[in-house]
Amino acid sequence: MSDRGRSQLDQLVDAVLASRNYKHISRDFIEALATQELAKRSNLKEAIKATRNKLHQVGGAYIEGEAHYTSWIGQLQQAAVNGDDDQLKRACKSIMGYHASTRERLPMLEQFYPTLLADLPPIRSVIDVACGLHPLAIPWMPLGQDVQYYAYDIYQDMADFLNEFMGLIHMPGYAQARDVLQYCPPFKVDLAFVLKAIPCLEQVDKNAGLRLLDTINADHLLVSFPVHSLGGRKKGMVVNYEARFHELVRHKDWSIKRFEFPTELVFRIDKRDSQQSPVMHETML
Ligand SMILES: C[S@@+](CC[C@H](N)C(=O)[O-])C[C@H]1O[C@@H](n2cnc3c(N)ncnc32)[C@H](O)[C@@H]1O
Repeated sequence: MSDRGRSQLDQLVDAVLASRNYKHISRDFIEALATQELAKRSNLKEAIKATRNKLHQVGGAYIEGEAHYTSWIGQLQQAAVNGDDDQLKRACKSIMGYHASTRERLPMLEQFYPTLLADLPPIRSVIDVACGLHPLAIPWMPLGQDVQYYAYDIYQDMADFLNEFMGLIHMPGYAQARDVLQYCPPFKVDLAFVLKAIPCLEQVDKNAGLRLLDTINADHLLVSFPVHSLGGRKKGMVVNYEARFHELVRHKDWSIKRFEFPTELVFRIDKRDSQQSPVMHETML
């Protein structure tokens, strides 16, 4: 890159990081988006605007109002000190309500994980890509003893909060602010959550879904898609996302199970137990 190009890119990234809504987003991710936007237009001001718009689409749009991490940690600490599991779950639920993706899962938390994981051996390691506030659902997950949980999203303040939460519930592992388009966790795990992530990631890189499904080194992957848009419209989303998922797994010899929940279409890919040819089982819930 020329010196002028580098300087424009730095100016763009600094301008975006100076905005209140985007100051906690990983610099690497902003830089990758900014590089794409600068390549499409030479006007710096327009490229700043386009980068902010894209950040809103793939991250900001899901967060309801402001994140109150300090007060949220206070509520969780209180529940942990009291040793009260119900109080902890109530606090987790109320906080998950601030992220659109976890909010729409709240009414089905009790059946979601037992249904999806029922017939699997104990899960001892998990990665959660583009996690949002999903690690707050750990208390509902039937995980094995000594499980380790690794979560990734683009927000540093969210990762800090999730690390504090995981400390409170004594969950080994970490949350990290990472662009999973540039860094896909390479290590082997039992289970990977790729929940409602692919449509979001493919807005930035149309090969992201295929790359992630190929690269994630997990015996089992839960890959899901929203059934409604953020605005609540259905617009044939199940049909479209189902078709997209089938395109992604077209030439794979993985075993696949389909689950349709009221607000989420989920596919479980079993890589390790895969048969000679893809097998499709369906469950409507
Ligand atoms: C639709 S939400 C899904 C959240 C969570 N997986 C769930 O289902 O509850 C998409 C999430 O992806 C995150 N995200 C977007 N682009 C990302 C990237 N390149 N790397 C990591 N996370 C990303 C957003 O910040 C947002 O929290």
